[in-house]
Amino acid sequence: MPDSVTIIDNRTGERYELPVVYGTYPTYGAAIPAANLRTIKQSEDDFGLMTYDPGYTNTASCKSSITFIDGERGILRYCGYPIEELAGSRSFLEVAYLLLEGELPDGNQLTDWTWHVTHHTIIHEKIKRFMDGFRYDAHPMGMLVSTVAALSTFYPESRQIQDPDVRHKQIVRLIAKMPTIAAFAYRYSAGMPYAYPDNDLSYTGNFLNMMYRSTETGYKPDPVLERALDVLFVLHADHEQNCSTSTMRAVGSSHADPYVAVAAACAALYGPLHGGANERVLRMLEEIGNVKEVPKYVERVKKGEFRLMGFGHRVYKNYDPRAKILRELAEQVFAVTGKNPLIDIAVELERIALEDEYFVSRKLYPNVDFYSGIIYQAMGFPTAMFPVLFAIARTAGWLAQWQEMLVDEDQRIARPRQVYTGADERHVD
Ligand code: ACO
Repeated sequence: MPDSVTIIDNRTGERYELPVVYGTYPTYGAAIPAANLRTIKQSEDDFGLMTYDPGYTNTASCKSSITFIDGERGILRYCGYPIEELAGSRSFLEVAYLLLEGELPDGNQLTDWTWHVTHHTIIHEKIKRFMDGFRYDAHPMGMLVSTVAALSTFYPESRQIQDPDVRHKQIVRLIAKMPTIAAFAYRYSAGMPYAYPDNDLSYTGNFLNMMYRSTETGYKPDPVLERALDVLFVLHADHEQNCSTSTMRAVGSSHADPYVAVAAACAALYGPLHGGANERVLRMLEEIGNVKEVPKYVERVKKGEFRLMGFGHRVYKNYDPRAKILRELAEQVFAVTGKNPLIDIAVELERIALEDEYFVSRKLYPNVDFYSGIIYQAMGFPTAMFPVLFAIARTAGWLAQWQEMLVDEDQRIARPRQVYTGADERHVD
């Protein structure tokens, strides 16, 4: 069977045979190189056919070997490994290494990787001064976006994006410094002195230390909460070509340095339809207030008054596998922190929605944000920090995707086409 499709242009009667390219799975990832459509013309001076795809709902913008999602079956794998296995047995730093290198680290590689990340967590004192310039009530995500961009001015060599060693150094710096900036943003808003990193702690243990250390000399994170945060970070580490990752690739495609590219990706993540959704989920659950009010709220969603936050996904038309893991994780966290009463409203909301024709017919299931906010809140994170936590984890995926793009010979500067619908040429008289 030839690997091509035949298109008949009914405008001209011409037949075109266009090649099909495949990824790992022939039934999931077959594509027509869009440039070939340009050969389909009505006349010699015709520009040729394009595809019209707002929101890129059916456009593969790259080949990638990092993350695989089968949204119909609710499957998520990083470099072939099911998310359930990684979340169950690996740390965030191991998973970050996997995304960046394509393989899980062996013992020595992990020791080396952990050492380097741990020894790059401190930020320049001038960055601290920079952060002091924000208004007292600045949203920590706004602080993160700007501060990460400002890092670019501290590491001018980062512009040498084609040098693999320079690239690696910035990757280490970014993964190491994101938690520090995030925690400092929180401490600033809380009016607390910045807490410096502690090299004796794990990645997530140290983050909890920088967030919550008070006057004690050695902060000891609760092991259950430290592990829970690791699981949350693993689940959020990558998700193929989502809005923020596409932004990272688009900005990186102009060969901007990785700090400004990560800042742009953070900005994309900030929006309520993407990383800001778990913040909205909590506000929604608080607004519902108690379990009895759930049916009324669902009716208002069905009338189109607003969307059910934490429900629906561009890719998953089945239960988001990350939401499943989080529902179980919530119980472990509550055993330490005490139950977050919002969980009862969330479970009831899920139950009613999953039985309702409106949600069933549209294949709307809970996504990762439905339960993550409830867990974060139980762990003491203020709502405004939720997208910041997401950004810390997703930095690993953004950088892996950025690096993959830079060495991919097919990649060029991101520059989509448009279908012009404005006025024909006219003149000012
Ligand atoms: N509540 C109610 N109805 C919904 C919801 C929702 N959460 N999501 C989609 N729908 C409905 C739409 O109204 C539409 O119905 P229609 O066919 O009658 O017009 C249908 O389902 C399809 O919706 P689209 O907007 O076309 O789906 P799209 O793939 O563009 O949107 C998105 C995906 C943005 C995630 C959407 O489901 C949404 O807004 N969800 C709420 C926000 C959210 O939870 N975002 C987090 C996503 S996960 C992440 O970014 C990490």
